[in-house]
Amino acid sequence: MLDHGLFVKAVSKSFHQNNQPVVMALDRVSLAVAAGEFVSILGPSGCGKSTLLDMVAGLSNPDEGDILLGKQSIVGKRGYVSYMPQSDLLFPWRTVLDNVIIPLQLQRIGIAEARKEALDLLPVFGLEKFAHSYPDMLSGGMRQRAALLRTYLCKRDLLLLDEPFGKLDALTKIQMQQWLLDIWEQFKPSVLFVTHDIDEAILLSDRIYLLSPRPGRLQAEIMVQLPRPRNPRITTNSAFARIKEKVYRYLENGLFNWEENRLHDTKQNVNIFRG
Ligand SMILES: Nc1ncnc2c1ncn2[C@@H]1O[C@H](COP(=O)(O)OP(=O)(O)O)[C@@H](O)[C@H]1O
Ligand SMILES: [Mg+2]
Repeated sequence: MLDHGLFVKAVSKSFHQNNQPVVMALDRVSLAVAAGEFVSILGPSGCGKSTLLDMVAGLSNPDEGDILLGKQSIVGKRGYVSYMPQSDLLFPWRTVLDNVIIPLQLQRIGIAEARKEALDLLPVFGLEKFAHSYPDMLSGGMRQRAALLRTYLCKRDLLLLDEPFGKLDALTKIQMQQWLLDIWEQFKPSVLFVTHDIDEAILLSDRIYLLSPRPGRLQAEIMVQLPRPRNPRITTNSAFARIKEKVYRYLENGLFNWEENRLHDTKQNVNIFRG
């Protein structure tokens, strides 16, 4: 269990060229994930979602702000969270089994033991028949499940998932969402999930942070008080529709207030509406 939660505190990030900031990706974004919570970041393409996850994973540093796991700053530190980046990064020359054991091998666990541990989990991830297949032979959904298993085997208390179903067709996506909901019920991991799909965010999450177009700013925090266990059919409920309607209202508000990327405009207040 994630003991003390994740806190992202007023994090800003710009990208530079020749020492000049050229793109402001994130502007003072704050968010939190508590133990056992499923939290989504919902925002349009290019608003800095992947940039934010990279920073939580310690792969890059914020310009301002802090990232805490419990009381400890994890800025620039790797190995504290399990991270599934946006592209699945499966090695084409390794079998599914040997792809998913990479995190175990990085922990210096011997190959036989690592394979045994992964083999035990393959059925949970619906991959038992594909242990010795190569990634090219898998469907999109299977590839994503393999990448998710590999991320799960990092065994950190917080899972960061960056648009894991973004490239799947609509029906496969629903199947994968159902599967993820079932896995979540079983293991109750703490999850920070990135998506640009409104239905997906509501279906999966306990809470949603809505980000504006670039530079990503916090537009709203929306509580999703729908009963669990859930399944994708809940998207047809009236309670679901009410939450969706609320998201649309915030989105419209964000779009009306959308300004061009202003690097020097640091005095703007972050508008936080509580859902
Ligand atoms: N390494 C980089 N160098 C320059 N610009 C970058 C870099 N990484 C991301 N960006 C820019 O920062 C913005 C946010 O990117 P990203 O975090 O990938 O957005 P999202 O994941 O929300 O689609 C985009 O405009 C993107 O082009
Ligand atoms: Mg992204």
